[in-house]
Amino acid sequence: MRIILYLGKGGVGKTTVSASTATAIARSGKRVLIMSTDVAHSLADAFGVELSSTPVEVEKNLFAMEVNILAEIRENWTELYSYFSSILMHDGTNEIVAEELAIVPGMEEMISLRYIWKAAKSGKYDAVVVDAAPTGETMRLLGMPESYGWYSEKIGGWHSKAIGFAAPLLSRFMPKKNIFKLMPEVNEHMKELHGMLQDKSITTFRVVLNPENMVIKEALRVQTYLNLFGYKLDAAVVNKVLPSNSSDPYLQALIDQQAKYLRVIDNCFYPVPIFRAMQSSKEVISTDRLYDLSQELFSGRNPMEVLYSNDKTQTLEKINGKYVLSLYLPNVEVDKLAVNIKGDELLVDINNFRKSIVLPNVLVGRKTEGADFEQGTLNITFAN
Ligand SMILES: Nc1ncnc2c1ncn2[C@@H]1O[C@H](COP(=O)(O)OP(=O)(O)O)[C@@H](O)[C@H]1O
Ligand SMILES: [Mg+2]
Repeated sequence: MRIILYLGKGGVGKTTVSASTATAIARSGKRVLIMSTDVAHSLADAFGVELSSTPVEVEKNLFAMEVNILAEIRENWTELYSYFSSILMHDGTNEIVAEELAIVPGMEEMISLRYIWKAAKSGKYDAVVVDAAPTGETMRLLGMPESYGWYSEKIGGWHSKAIGFAAPLLSRFMPKKNIFKLMPEVNEHMKELHGMLQDKSITTFRVVLNPENMVIKEALRVQTYLNLFGYKLDAAVVNKVLPSNSSDPYLQALIDQQAKYLRVIDNCFYPVPIFRAMQSSKEVISTDRLYDLSQELFSGRNPMEVLYSNDKTQTLEKINGKYVLSLYLPNVEVDKLAVNIKGDELLVDINNFRKSIVLPNVLVGRKTEGADFEQGTLNITFAN
């Protein structure tokens, strides 16, 4: 069983690349489910079929579904929110609780995760491909399994506290499904899913991007946050690459600009493998077109496989009370090394090679104290 998640900014081609991957897997004879957790659904358009939150067989071995989170919340979970607010009103701890609610990932993420868990556990599929929502939401989603235990404990705590003074409210606001009974069960599922997501032989994270400045930055943010949560990137998929030259000066200018950003991508994601797909002149819809795209992208490699595995790509640790960011840069000879911070970006210049990393919030605003290069790993220490 494999879980493959595609992440990245909106519009870069996550849905297209996910659908293309799933089609390739299905045509290799494996059963695959592609699931979209983005509220901006377009999977149905990519396949040219109607989809819902029940899997539909698009062609042999290829199943697809769109998780309708809003509908699900509306149907089953809104009462929980009403219930919370009724407690908050009586409790007098509004502010703290409100704050906690604000920082803790919410129901939407949990619902998406439960769908992934269900599909992975169903035993029906050899692979589950997840066409994820753009970065912010997905990062909350991926951070969720870890914080979920804490979250459900809080909910349980509020529940028992509420019984004393809000009993009359209970009957009115009790969720249709008994959510408090469900919590320990969901908690178990989350733990199990977290294990699966952390297991590199099961789960693979890939970022989709285009050769454009803002898109690259978002993709780097994906990499940083994946690393923080202990997940690793297994490939970067560069989509919508223009042909290498054109007689049209306008197109040529765009091509030159892309060429610059393609080099940036090569440097920034190294040593993670990079796969490229051209901007097609025709829309990439229907399984045949999606299959062609997969052949172009993975050129002979099986997209169901783990395409890259290395634990050391990027790590952040606290050593003797200080944050140390380590970057794995094999085969890099260091003659000249410069580390600079620009806003939330860390720029590492090694000889003529520049790697930039989007810093996690905890490091933004800190100065670097030193950098050393040891056994292919660059360690950067941040001041407190
Ligand atoms: N390689 C490509 N060539 C041409 N059009 C593409 C390509 N990849 C994606 N598209 C188109 O770009 C648009 C956005 O792609 P989509 O996969 O929906 O992005 P996302 O899911 O990241 O928002 C869609 O209209 C899609 O058909
Ligand atoms: Mg999409």
